[in-house]
Amino acid sequence: MASERCTRPDRRAVLVGGALASLTAACGGARPAPPAQAPGPDGFAPGQPVAEAVAGGPGTVLGPADAVPPGGGVVYGRLAVVVTRTTAGELRGFSAVCPHDGCLVNEVTDASIVCPCHGSRFDLDGAVTRGPARGPLAARPVRVDRGHLVLD
Ligand code: FES
Repeated sequence: MASERCTRPDRRAVLVGGALASLTAACGGARPAPPAQAPGPDGFAPGQPVAEAVAGGPGTVLGPADAVPPGGGVVYGRLAVVVTRTTAGELRGFSAVCPHDGCLVNEVTDASIVCPCHGSRFDLDGAVTRGPARGPLAARPVRVDRGHLVLD
């Protein structure tokens, strides 16, 4: 397990056994890797850093609108979008980028949008219901065009 303290390595430590790479990784301040998860229906593994996602632009077709169940939602990880549907049938689109530290949310379960990295949860309107995130998911409006969800 990596130490919480980071110390500057001496020259000998750097030269022995590739220690520089491991010290850099341990002390670089990077957040821990998210838990490994199976890829979603679009082939993107939820929880991957957003830099690996391809954010969708206006006009991008997400998929069939009826794939989003009332009281639930679907994460389109590769496009960094999550779409929910209220129990009344209204669709809501959000960025899938967690406002806490930039991971992608990975599922919608029990009427909650879940971020796998540190456990933040958001309701179907994108508002935080459990931290550490402090703010809501950013709106990412969608519309239905001939039965398909399309990014506005
Ligand atoms: Fe989502 Fe930390 S990045 S909870």
